[in-house]
Amino acid sequence: MRLGKYEIGRTLGEGNFGKVKYATNVETGKGFAVKILEREKILQLKITEQIKREIRTLKLLKHPNVVRLYEVLASKTKIYMVLEYVKGGELFDKIAMNGRLKEREGLMLFQQLVDGVSYCHDKGVFHRDLKPENVLVDARGNIKISDFGLSALPQHLRDDGLLHTTCGSPNYVAPEVLANRGYDGATADIWSCGVILYVILTGCLPFDDRNLAVLYQKIFKGDVMIPKWLSPGAQHMMRRILDPNPKTRITAAEIKEDKWFKQGYSPAAPEEDDDDGLLDMHDLDEAFSFSEAEQVRDGKAPAFINAFQLIGMSSSLDLSGFFEKEDASERKIRFTSNYSAKELLEKIEDIVTQMGFHVLNKNGKLKVVQSRKDLKGPGSLCIMTEVFELNPSLYVVELRKSSGDIALYRQLCTKLANDLGVSRSQPLLTSIAC
Ligand code: ADE
Repeated sequence: MRLGKYEIGRTLGEGNFGKVKYATNVETGKGFAVKILEREKILQLKITEQIKREIRTLKLLKHPNVVRLYEVLASKTKIYMVLEYVKGGELFDKIAMNGRLKEREGLMLFQQLVDGVSYCHDKGVFHRDLKPENVLVDARGNIKISDFGLSALPQHLRDDGLLHTTCGSPNYVAPEVLANRGYDGATADIWSCGVILYVILTGCLPFDDRNLAVLYQKIFKGDVMIPKWLSPGAQHMMRRILDPNPKTRITAAEIKEDKWFKQGYSPAAPEEDDDDGLLDMHDLDEAFSFSEAEQVRDGKAPAFINAFQLIGMSSSLDLSGFFEKEDASERKIRFTSNYSAKELLEKIEDIVTQMGFHVLNKNGKLKVVQSRKDLKGPGSLCIMTEVFELNPSLYVVELRKSSGDIALYRQLCTKLANDLGVSRSQPLLTSIAC
């Protein structure tokens, strides 16, 4: 597909806000990543002005550890954000594939993360959804944070305007955000950096539980086990960041003064202003050339809370819509099942083994890999599988493709969801006590 001077190619990922595709500038041959948003959905959600404001701010972000926004284009039905292409992949995949990083390497990534995050904070931009999936690693092993400043876009933008399938992982969310009583974007982002630091250095999540209500309690209490084998400096840093009280939590400026943090630290200089006028404000207005008056829905503008905030506000809630089966072409799919966690793990192992895959069981998470002899095409298929308990008779299976062929992945997802998922005709009512 052609979009002006860009040739749109393969899908790079499925972000919170829509598909991200690879694009080549046919004049220069340079590669870009293009985030595609549905105009109609922005219109329906009455967030046009908010998105325009945020995109204007994003244009100001020029830092080596933050994915650059170069241009915004529009077709009749879609908005295209032309972004810096980061060749390397997600930090999440790096850790999922190779396990935790050595402290020295992890510290370097953490320094870059804090640099990028604090730079954006200084410009008044907050992320609000920092997690390893939003942290890309380039070919040189340097961090690039994506989706900064896109908090105006609700998680569910790619669905139908209801709080559906894409409830982001709550494991990285600060307690004050979950409590939904108003919060400071900067301190909440720092909390998420602390969770990412923990994941980088230990290969595990600091707060985790199959039961969402229990997970919430752990986050609220800051109930974290910090391994003694980490250096005292790293332990201290994690404890100071994972402080559930945002008022006493360490700030970015204080992190930069910390002795452990400062080891081998050379702060990245913000990038030169090589503004080529690609994104002038007129273009932006053109791209979003529909006024709020054009908008079709009456009533109040939607409140931008995510699914987990909503769960936090409710003591008994129908979670059915959140966990419907997603399109199996996506990288991450979830389906619900009535089998127990133990049965699910055993059955998944049986099914995928019969399909010729190898299975590794790591702390209750399954890593499914294609055997070498079956390897054809782009690369070995590798899938991470996890089971979450909603209540004792309802579980969520989450499948996430780390690498490999999408068609084969789709086939495997379809088979597992058909064999193990709750049938569509069956009501999916459940409740969760928070
Ligand atoms: N996936 C999501 N955003 C990306 C980017 N900017 N570069 C490469 N892959 C991506």
